[in-house]
Amino acid sequence: MHTNAQPVQNITLLAIESSCDDTAVAVICDGKILSNIITSQDVHQKYGGVVPELASRSHQKNIVPVIDLALKKAKISLKDLDGIAFTQGPGLLGSLLVGSSFAKGLALSLDKPLVAVNHIDAHVLAHLIENPNIPFPFLCLLVSGGHTQIVKVNSVTNMQILGKTIDDAAGEAFDKAAKILGLPYPGGPLIDKYATTGNPLAYKFSSGNVPNLDFSFSGFKTAVLYFVRDKMAKDATFIDTNLSDICASIQHTIVTYLLSKLKTAALQTKIKHIAIAGGVAANSGLRNNLKFMAAKQNWSTYIPAFEYCTDNAGMIAMAGYYKFLAGDTVGIDVASFASLKK
Ligand code: KG4
Ligand code: ZN
Repeated sequence: MHTNAQPVQNITLLAIESSCDDTAVAVICDGKILSNIITSQDVHQKYGGVVPELASRSHQKNIVPVIDLALKKAKISLKDLDGIAFTQGPGLLGSLLVGSSFAKGLALSLDKPLVAVNHIDAHVLAHLIENPNIPFPFLCLLVSGGHTQIVKVNSVTNMQILGKTIDDAAGEAFDKAAKILGLPYPGGPLIDKYATTGNPLAYKFSSGNVPNLDFSFSGFKTAVLYFVRDKMAKDATFIDTNLSDICASIQHTIVTYLLSKLKTAALQTKIKHIAIAGGVAANSGLRNNLKFMAAKQNWSTYIPAFEYCTDNAGMIAMAGYYKFLAGDTVGIDVASFASLKK
């Protein structure tokens, strides 16, 4: 049987993720996560979205204690490390620079190699944490706050984007719809929560209409905005009295749209190993409906644990580990990028 698992070589890496508003550090040894620490920043909630300047400052404050805790939890010290991995991009540049500068300083002082990781690849490779023998090729629906893509994963180093959003990401669609409803940021998990007791067919919203395997969420967002505005003009209590049904209908529209494109991709490529990744993969509607579709389509599905869906350093550690094994290291003059061309 084909296996991706690597032989024991005692290769230990520290990985830093700081692309957005979470400061995260993980330690990996021979493909096994020894610690996975994350500090979320509450400071953004009152602004209804991530404030880049505040995110960078919080990373500065959090990074040393988070690294200390990750090392302590993994029961290793700095001298045991064979390399340092960090998120190179895409993300908020100021946030990325905190992680990359720290990683560079650490690599320089320990005289160890530096590994630059693409955040998007890492979301996909998060699957290897719990499923080291996931079969290639597999299809991965990557849905986060910044990205929505269907990726054909040929190997740990070879990924092909089959389709992507032409405007908002799925997570943004959740968050913007939630904002229209007056819910705090990030609204995706709250829509998920209220949707559990609502009727998904109570209201109809148009979903995107773009060809092939691409996505669009801007029309959906406008549909929610006009719907809520019209209803509230007639009845100012409309949101409060119908919150669960509205959330369930919003979730149903997004999930149905994502899964219909994923099904088309599976039929076109004839691939039956289907994975989801990214923050929106934590959505219970997506997880349940994927399982339902998988039973009908005879798919094997791969759904990461919640902690490996949203931003985390475990996934950076896993992607960094494979790059390290391939000898794909970088010099300390390497630049970070807000958006990466793929
Ligand atoms: O992957 P992630 O943590 O960060 C990015 O790289 O973007 O994804 C964050 C996104 C946010 O838009 C958040 O609202 C969404 O994932 N999200 C959810 C759920 N949990 C997180 N959306 C819907 N349902 C959830 N349970
Ligand atoms: Zn992410």
